Amino acid sequence: MSPFVARPEHGVVWITGASSGLGRALALKLAGEGYKVAVTARRHEALLELQAEASALPGNIFVLDGDVTSAEDMEHTVAAIEYQHGPLALVVLNAGIYLPARGEDLNHEVFERSFAVNLHGVVNCLVPAVRHMRARGHGQIAIVSSAAGYGGLPGSAAYGATKAALINMAESLNFDLGRLGIRIQLVTPGYIETPLTAKNKFPMPGLISAEDAAAAVAVGLKSPGFEISFPKSFTYKLKLAKLLPYGLYFGLMQRVLGYRRKRRDAGRSSSPRTAE
Ligand SMILES: NC(=O)c1ccc[n+]([C@@H]2O[C@H](COP(=O)([O-])OP(=O)(O)OC[C@H]3O[C@@H](n4cnc5c(N)ncnc54)[C@H](OP(=O)(O)O)[C@@H]3O)[C@@H](O)[C@H]2O)c1
Repeated sequence: MSPFVARPEHGVVWITGASSGLGRALALKLAGEGYKVAVTARRHEALLELQAEASALPGNIFVLDGDVTSAEDMEHTVAAIEYQHGPLALVVLNAGIYLPARGEDLNHEVFERSFAVNLHGVVNCLVPAVRHMRARGHGQIAIVSSAAGYGGLPGSAAYGATKAALINMAESLNFDLGRLGIRIQLVTPGYIETPLTAKNKFPMPGLISAEDAAAAVAVGLKSPGFEISFPKSFTYKLKLAKLLPYGLYFGLMQRVLGYRRKRRDAGRSSSPRTAE
């Protein structure tokens, strides 16, 4: 049986974290292809601007508020989409944050916030979405992880851990939801030019625009593959690097990301550079 591919006639697309960056660009791309797209995030005004920008497109965008860290809110959001706008055909779990975790100022908050949004936030949306799709026997869910989840990178102890967890989660769900008719896909981008990477002060290999990233995701969502990875010239190198022995992997990553270990008066320190 060929994998389920959500078409506009199947129902609604829900994109989390659509107020900026990849989520925003993907919402416009899919609305341009005729999909009805529900967008959520915390910044309501930014979502209303997105909705207005899409007014001339063949599909349409409608706005719901949605902090993914609240399981209760996400239950209500899914119910609201289903009852007010139609069945959920495709869900893109995209909301995410990048907080550097540096050796010099390692603290609980960076880990707790990263896990609350990037990992538990995905679960909070996934659970109600699967319940509704399961009742119908079909649906498509894309989980936005990152190439930073393939292996450890400087400054990425919190972010990378959440994204590695999402890769494992999507792989496992591929077994468990596939037999219920629900298709899972994993999105693993390299560097994208968005507010999330705007704070990076170093050259980012393979950096692409949010529009090009959204175009790659839109193509991947219609393809039969499990993983939507781009740009392949960068992400496949990271994948291959992970096959190396650790000694070689650490040295290679330090060189590629321009990471330098520095000594400070009171100990060791570093200039972390990470792939988001
Ligand atoms: N940029 C990259 O290089 C890159 C690379 C690989 C993967 N990714 C992943 O791609 C996804 C999108 O990132 P981006 O680069 O487009 O960054 P972005 O422009 O900062 O977008 C992040 C989105 O997540 C939303 N968000 C953050 N916290 C939220 C919360 N608690 N509840 C609901 N929404 C929340 C933000 O909206 P509000 O602030 O309005 O809530 C925003 O719409 C993330 O999962 C990121 O990890 C990005």
